Amino acid sequence: MTARRRTLGVCYYPEHWPEALWAEDARRMADAGLTWVRIGEFAWGRIEPEPGRFDWGWLDRAIGTLGREGLKVVLGTPTATPPKWVLDRHPDMLAVDAESRPRKFGSRRHYCFSHEGYLQECRRIVTEIARRYGRNPHVAAWQTDNEYGCHDTVLSYSVAARRAFRDWLRARFPAKGGNGGDIGALNRAWGNVFWSMDYADFDDIDLPNLTVTEPNPAHSLAFRAFSSDQVARFNRAQVEIIRAYSDAPIAHNYMGRVTEFDHFKVGADLDIASWDSYPLGFLEDRVGASAEDQRHFARQGDPDFQAFHHDLYRAVGRGRWWVMEQQPGPVNWAPYNPAPLPGMVRLWTWEAFAHGAEAVCYFRWRQAPFAQEQMHAGLMRPDSAEAPGLAEARTVAAELADAPEVAPAPAPVALIFDYAADWAWAVQPHGRGLSYFDLVFAHYRALRRAGLSVDILPPDGRDCDGYRAIFAPGMMHMPEPVKEALASCGAEVVIGPRSGARDGHFSIPVPLPPAFPGLDVTVARVESLRPDMPLPVAGGGAVTGYREALDTTCEAFLRLEDGQAVAVRAGRISYVGGWGDAAMLDRLVAAIAGRAGLDTLRLPKGVRVRDSGRERFWFNHNPHPVECAAGMIPAAGVIRLRTDAD
Ligand code: GAL
Repeated sequence: MTARRRTLGVCYYPEHWPEALWAEDARRMADAGLTWVRIGEFAWGRIEPEPGRFDWGWLDRAIGTLGREGLKVVLGTPTATPPKWVLDRHPDMLAVDAESRPRKFGSRRHYCFSHEGYLQECRRIVTEIARRYGRNPHVAAWQTDNEYGCHDTVLSYSVAARRAFRDWLRARFPAKGGNGGDIGALNRAWGNVFWSMDYADFDDIDLPNLTVTEPNPAHSLAFRAFSSDQVARFNRAQVEIIRAYSDAPIAHNYMGRVTEFDHFKVGADLDIASWDSYPLGFLEDRVGASAEDQRHFARQGDPDFQAFHHDLYRAVGRGRWWVMEQQPGPVNWAPYNPAPLPGMVRLWTWEAFAHGAEAVCYFRWRQAPFAQEQMHAGLMRPDSAEAPGLAEARTVAAELADAPEVAPAPAPVALIFDYAADWAWAVQPHGRGLSYFDLVFAHYRALRRAGLSVDILPPDGRDCDGYRAIFAPGMMHMPEPVKEALASCGAEVVIGPRSGARDGHFSIPVPLPPAFPGLDVTVARVESLRPDMPLPVAGGGAVTGYREALDTTCEAFLRLEDGQAVAVRAGRISYVGGWGDAAMLDRLVAAIAGRAGLDTLRLPKGVRVRDSGRERFWFNHNPHPVECAAGMIPAAGVIRLRTDAD
């Protein structure tokens, strides 16, 4: 793994401001120690105000102005905001929601990934932009579109999606001899004999919305996999064009807890993964923290949620990743939008670097006085006075001058994240509120409470070597090669609950799950539990929400108080037949770490560590100082300790 310089940047919208301000803005960005400026991702309307009439002058001058200050431009393709005239040319390009209502013009992301006419418009505008700026010396990176999936835009129930879904299914169930699809094979794989759902032809298949009661889960899962592939296809079309004109690396800015498309598949076509980190908005909006923790961390953000995504996107980017948008002050879109505690903008930035980020860019340079995001802070106020985030960015820039390199290092522990498993749990949660993301995140939290640095792995079983322990909870479909890879990688491996519970078309396999090599465990029965009926585990902790009865001859190392096995093992493979609460997961992690010979810590609430190749970073997410093994860490403080030999 190569070490890279850590750099800072900012998101900027020259089209929002009088041109007279640009030079001064660029000078102040450079003075603050910023390197990157992302521009252009919403500017289609200013680049091509009418079909075929291009206004490049302003963008040429904006890029030139930034470049003259030594700033490097990340140029976004503007396909998340097609102007009204594009919609007038393609009135059926809008995405359609599950109630079959078109999602109208007037904000952003108003397109369906499956619409061929819109895809053609995107190819056209991306070609124009890439041709014009592909060799521009100041354009040093690209961003495709903006936040695929934001505002719930992956699943679209449009006519275009239905047509494409049928073709996708034909290709998935090919007829022998290669002519069209084998509808009988689909009927058998999905179990369409149930409720007389057999189809005579692929053109009989509709999208799985507005059915009287739930659609066949195989149908729903296939639609989700298809919708994910449509995102990858849309992105790939842009990447191929940009690559024809430019050697600069290409990124996309992913989001927090957006799982509707397989980021590993999209990331395979890109050079860099990046994501948009809004810790305080997330805490209110999607972390799922307790009311007490929401209050406690209201100005600091969840201590694990950002780190989880840093690790996830490091995997998606195959080592190369950025934060493309970093919250610099209050945002506008969460239920409540507090200001960060002083020091948190710096902490968030260093946390990203500790997890291996090459760059952290703040969103945005100057707060907009108009339109949807006028309540969203920037590094500057609308009147160009400094907002508090800028001083913290400047502090980090000064600190970076002393430590400009990221020293990547593999973590001792890995956690597998499988987007398809998230879809399967969403299609069939079996109990209210049960989600794969939450299950994996609960394991991540437990590993971090024990002071362990974690790598996240894709679900294909290819990168398993070298880890001391691998956790792969909840992978509802586990293809045989993945089971084999885990069984033979030499790590302590933990699977369950629901591992291998379904085949690739959402049927219960026989032999019954988990059917894992070397493990005599059969899941004999499953049940979901009301939140008010936890099952206590002997010695501490409880199973909550979901539980499996195991037929097994393996040694049990966690049992319910009534003696039934919860976690069992054979050799290095452990199976967990239930969803553990935090206390049970802490015991699970302690047991596995002990067997794997891993050193653990007992970290105070809100304190987390992360090991890079040369340093151990300590982060205090609390609003008060904390005494820990590294000494006293101030509120919102960061301590860096060298761990290498010199
Ligand atoms: C992101 C998005 C930005 C801006 C920001 C506000 O999700 O990419 O364009 O809307 O949120 O927090």
